Amino acid sequence: MRISAKSKVCLIIGDPVEHSLSPLMHNKAYEALGIDDKFVFVAGRVLRENLKPAVEGFRAFNFRGLTVTIPHKIEIMKYLDELDESAEKIGAVNTVVNQGGRLVGYNTDYLGVLLPLEKEIDIKGKKAVVFGAGGAAKSTVYALCLKGAKVLILNRTVEKAKELAEEFGCDFGSLEEKQKVKEADIVINATSVGMEEERSLVEKEYFRKGQVVFDVVYTPFKTLFLRNAEEKGAKVIPGVEMLLYQAIKQFELYTEYEAPVEVMRRVLYEHFDYKVEK
Ligand code: ATR
Repeated sequence: MRISAKSKVCLIIGDPVEHSLSPLMHNKAYEALGIDDKFVFVAGRVLRENLKPAVEGFRAFNFRGLTVTIPHKIEIMKYLDELDESAEKIGAVNTVVNQGGRLVGYNTDYLGVLLPLEKEIDIKGKKAVVFGAGGAAKSTVYALCLKGAKVLILNRTVEKAKELAEEFGCDFGSLEEKQKVKEADIVINATSVGMEEERSLVEKEYFRKGQVVFDVVYTPFKTLFLRNAEEKGAKVIPGVEMLLYQAIKQFELYTEYEAPVEVMRRVLYEHFDYKVEK
């Protein structure tokens, strides 16, 4: 073990947090780059009512990086000194960097969608359908709009789709308009459907070759939504890639080193017992 008094501390806070793969992913990456003397990554369960003192403690200890998960992503914004544009527009922070005493909030969740997607398709001007209107959908819509896609948001509760669409200047509708998937170049499930049960919001017949299809659900590895798309010849991206790429960007913000993507991917895939197909 090479941790010393000089090691900079990064940590994830949330409630619950014990299931988090961030410590393992980041510490393995430090080790792979030989910077496990410079950084260490731990976790702390922080109850909702303890967020303020937790952030004060982070500041007082002069820790380096703070990864933020449920239920603190929105609440934490008011305790920070600065927000970057993505955090401001998405209205949530999952990453805080201590920049010489100033706490700067970022949102890297949208990059979890954007980076894997951009490996497959040039997003500009493309038609995208996003299912969902919650937090995951908001990061997704932000990413797509940032890169100039034409976005249609479909949600069970149409009022929520409308609200999100108005914020980003997109179209919206109900789940009954799922046939619009046929015309889309990019199709993303940003709902929790498919996580607990073998269910897909879109049947096979709506997918086709040439589409890129992404699901934010990462258990199971390939949801029915993705399998439906794949069977029709679409290119599919599993949700675990979102988990990976939001962490990659975080790693780079905390350490200023280029992240070892394959090392971090392996941590996730091994944990979930996924076969690495790439
Ligand atoms: P997250 O922050 O992970 O996005 P969320 O904010 O609770 O979680 O959003 C969950 C999304 O999944 C919502 O779009 C929700 O639709 P509603 O806005 O109508 O609630 C969607 N969702 C969850 N269960 C669903 C179901 N059984 N059928 C259709 N949509 C569902």
